[in-house]
Amino acid sequence: MRNLDVIVLAAGRGTRMKSPLPKVLHAIAGRPLVYFPVKAALDLGARRVIVVVSPDAREEVVSALGRHLPNAPLGYAVQERALGTGDAAKVGLGQLTDAGQVLILYGDTPLLQASDLEPVLTPLDDRVKLSFLTFEATDPSGYGRVLRDAAGQARGIVEQRDLRTDAEHSITEVNAGIYAGDVDVLRTALSALVPQNAQGEYYLTDIVAEVTKQGVVGTASADPAALAGVNDRHQLAQAEGVLHARIRERWARAGVTIKGQPLIDDGVLIEADACIESSVRLRGTTRIGGQSLVDVGSVLEDARVGRGVVIKPYSIITQSRVADGAVLGPFCHLRPGSEILESAHVGNFVETKNATLGIGAKANHLAYLGDIDVGARTNIGAGAIVCNYDGYAKRRTRVGQDVFIGSDSQLVAPVVIGDGAYVGTGTTVTQDVPAGALAIGRVRQETRPDYATGLRERLRARAESEKKKD
Ligand code: UD1
Ligand code: CA
Repeated sequence: MRNLDVIVLAAGRGTRMKSPLPKVLHAIAGRPLVYFPVKAALDLGARRVIVVVSPDAREEVVSALGRHLPNAPLGYAVQERALGTGDAAKVGLGQLTDAGQVLILYGDTPLLQASDLEPVLTPLDDRVKLSFLTFEATDPSGYGRVLRDAAGQARGIVEQRDLRTDAEHSITEVNAGIYAGDVDVLRTALSALVPQNAQGEYYLTDIVAEVTKQGVVGTASADPAALAGVNDRHQLAQAEGVLHARIRERWARAGVTIKGQPLIDDGVLIEADACIESSVRLRGTTRIGGQSLVDVGSVLEDARVGRGVVIKPYSIITQSRVADGAVLGPFCHLRPGSEILESAHVGNFVETKNATLGIGAKANHLAYLGDIDVGARTNIGAGAIVCNYDGYAKRRTRVGQDVFIGSDSQLVAPVVIGDGAYVGTGTTVTQDVPAGALAIGRVRQETRPDYATGLRERLRARAESEKKKD
């Protein structure tokens, strides 16, 4: 850990997002926007990260960051009114009591990584009291422009709306929005700011001109691609595209086969030698074990998938566990609370919810398994339905080991079916079935020889006589 505190400014209104959700909470690769600059600061070794938030977004930001970064040394400061970035920085600084260096960054830059921040600290020494990152912009519009004197020393930053002379308009070196300096130097400079500019706001950028009054301000160059800010949904989509490409590269380098462009959230973990096919979406905290295959079009959210699992195309798995060697899909739907144990099979058009499928059990075709425990090696036939809901309450069904549930059966919950029992095809089970018993409940078949032939003749004769009448 370093003698370094970081302030992340995230209290802006974000009106260009056209959303009641605070800008910094918009999701990008499965995380809130503000997560990424905060994570970059933590990766840099910051001892504390203070996030400056607006009063209405405070609760949500605290809970979102607490969820995504549990146990991180985070603090919060509330900026009562959005009076500008200079005011926000001052509010953040109010939370810091220790001596040392402070890094200030903006909360709307999700592509930032620790390595992008490092250069801003390099210029600082006894002489250089403040430093900030700049880059050459092909299109500098919207950015603050960097003013330098004849000797090349940074003298100030002018915001777009406050540009005056032709010389100022022609500047292409812009402010990246990342600053570092000694806490006392920053405190003094921020308290001297005045809101005299086109927007009537306190500009953090004015600390540059302020500090040059007593010392030298250093700069370092930044990678413009890492600094892309998100102000609207188009920029959000573009930044997400970059993050997704990075995440694919991260897993491919870690030994995962990546086919085409699956979309993998930042919080997902995949073991080496797994294979993720194209058009797959892996969301939330999903984990995929080694040698497992997630085939085309599958969508997994907060799923725990073991090793050597085969998930055939277009399977949907939400908040469920799948143990080693299980085979799923195509087109299966595991809803929350499903637990598929080792080597079990769940086939096409099978829906499970709050269900456990024992080791080696099979439900291969067209079934609904809700609120049920199925024992090891039990076979659930095609079209079997668990009637777990009577319109008022859900009840649990228990099926033992080595049971055979015939096709098109209904298990009306709650029922218990003992080990080794056999339920005949088409049975509606409303009572418990003891171990080893056969349960069968269907109308007995009646077969009438030649009846169909006679019926056909009668019907044909009737149709012909009606035609003659017409
Ligand atoms: C800012 C810089 C500009 C720089 C650019 C880089 C200023 C005055 N301008 O402009 O020089 O080139 O970033 O992207 O700093 N915020 C608050 N409270 C406020 C206002 C803003 O917390 O009262 C936060 C916002 O949530 C946002 C960040 O500060 O995360 C930056 O604000 P924004 O309005 O986006 O600044 P830019 O116009 O992009
Ligand atoms: Ca911005």
